[in-house]
Formats: sequence, structure tokens, C-alpha cells
Amino acid sequence: MNLTLNVWRQKDARTPGRFVTYAAQDISTEMSFLEMLDVVNERLIERGEDPIAFDHDCREGICGTCGVVVNGRPHGPRERTTACQLHMRSFTDGDVITIEPWRAKAFPVLKDLIVDRSGLDRVIAAGGFISAPIGSAPDANAIPVRKVFADLAMDSAACIGCGACVAACPNASAMLFTAAKVSHLGLLPQGQPERRERVLAMIAQMDAEGFGSCTNHEECQAACPKGISVETIGRLNADFLVASLGKGRREAKLGD
Ligand code: SF4
Ligand code: FES
Repeated sequence: MNLTLNVWRQKDARTPGRFVTYAAQDISTEMSFLEMLDVVNERLIERGEDPIAFDHDCREGICGTCGVVVNGRPHGPRERTTACQLHMRSFTDGDVITIEPWRAKAFPVLKDLIVDRSGLDRVIAAGGFISAPIGSAPDANAIPVRKVFADLAMDSAACIGCGACVAACPNASAMLFTAAKVSHLGLLPQGQPERRERVLAMIAQMDAEGFGSCTNHEECQAACPKGISVETIGRLNADFLVASLGKGRREAKLGD
């Protein structure tokens, strides 16, 4: 296939960026999207030009490192597919493909298609852990967990922290990400001791990072490569309400 790429090039967060057009020639339909970018970069390097900077690691859809907006859609046109698992057979000869970085105030561009997603790490650090001593591995089934909760916790734990939900949201909200992280611990017995503090701390950090509010557009769910449902946000809101009321009551008691 021969394609035309409109790629966002930007030196760093302080320098304005612009689209640059490249020809991507002799691209195999078997290549992944990132392999196609590798080929374009090899040709740029051969010509002595600066290669296109993009993030990647596992290339197996599990690490959450890759992520670009392809023709206006985070991770590209295929549902539940990360950019590294997107293959060129999803495109046709002669296509014009626009490739941009995640767009969000909380994700400043580091270079070209790479953004700084450390805001998501700080949301995790604020509460995405348990402090119970875990000791050695417990016997299987020593802690009974109802199957419905185990399944929901596993669904939430599928979040790979890619940030596509933020990129897709018109408010650049990180609610789906935060909800997944709060839910996968909050649904299990091991996550109960810090359940209330966790949700308050993670929401406060999410706001401090400059992520926007959720106004129920549900674009996050459509863009999520791991199929995290907006129902998770419902659980987050319920947990936040309970924790806020409990905090208010505790503060009122201390004030007596
Ligand atoms: S909720 Fe989905 S889109 Fe958001 S960070 Fe997790 S895996 Fe990525
Ligand atoms: S490179 Fe790891 S999920 Fe894409």
C-alpha cells in the first residue's frame, strides 16, 4: 500500500507544533501501525531527518504505553484495539492518515506524538494500593470472594493506563481510568480498609492534575481498548458520595 501521513511534529511542550506530510510507501497489510511508523522512521533516518517520536513498549496491547490519535480516534479505527495491535489491513491503498498525540491539558506534549502521562501515575500513587500486610501467598480460596465481585474487579483491573479515555473525552476527564483503579481494589475484601480514603485521595489528585469533569459523553468507554464500562464511573461516584458523607460526619464530630 502507498499512504499519505499527516503527522503532528512538535519539538517540546514550549514550541508550537504543526502537521507535516510524509509518504508511506510499500507498506504491507501485515504490518502493525507502529511497524508502519518504524518503516517511515527508517527512511527519515536514511535521509538524515529527525524520526517521528512515538511511545511504545510491549507492542502486545498490555502495557498501555502506546497511544496516538488516528484520524480523530484514540488508538485508531478498531474497537478494543491498542495502536500497537492495530494492523495496516484496517486501511486501504491511497488512504490519508492523520496522526496526533493525545490532546489534554494534563498531558503536555514531550515530543511529536509522545505526551507526559505521569499525571495518571500520581493518581495511582495517591491511593491505588492496599496497606494490609500480605505476608506469604494465602491458600487458594482462603478469602471467599463472591464471583460477581471477582469478575467486576477483574474487569476493572484490565485497565492498562493508556489514557485514551482522557484523549477521547471532550472535557479531558480521567474518570474512567480513576474509576477502574478505585473499583478493582474497592470490590475486593483486601481493598476495604482504605476504601473511603482511597477514593477521596484519588479524586483530589485527579482534580489537582488538571483533568476535567465527567459530563456523561461516554466517549471514554468507546475509546477504551480494554472495554472498561462507564458503569465503573457509577461505582466511583457512589463510593465518593459515601466517603464524602462519612468524612463530613467525622469532621462534624471532631468539631463538637
Ligand atoms: S480506562 Fe481504558 S482508556 Fe482509560 S486508561 Fe484504562 S485502559 Fe486506557
Ligand atoms: S505498546 Fe504496550 S499496549 Fe501498546
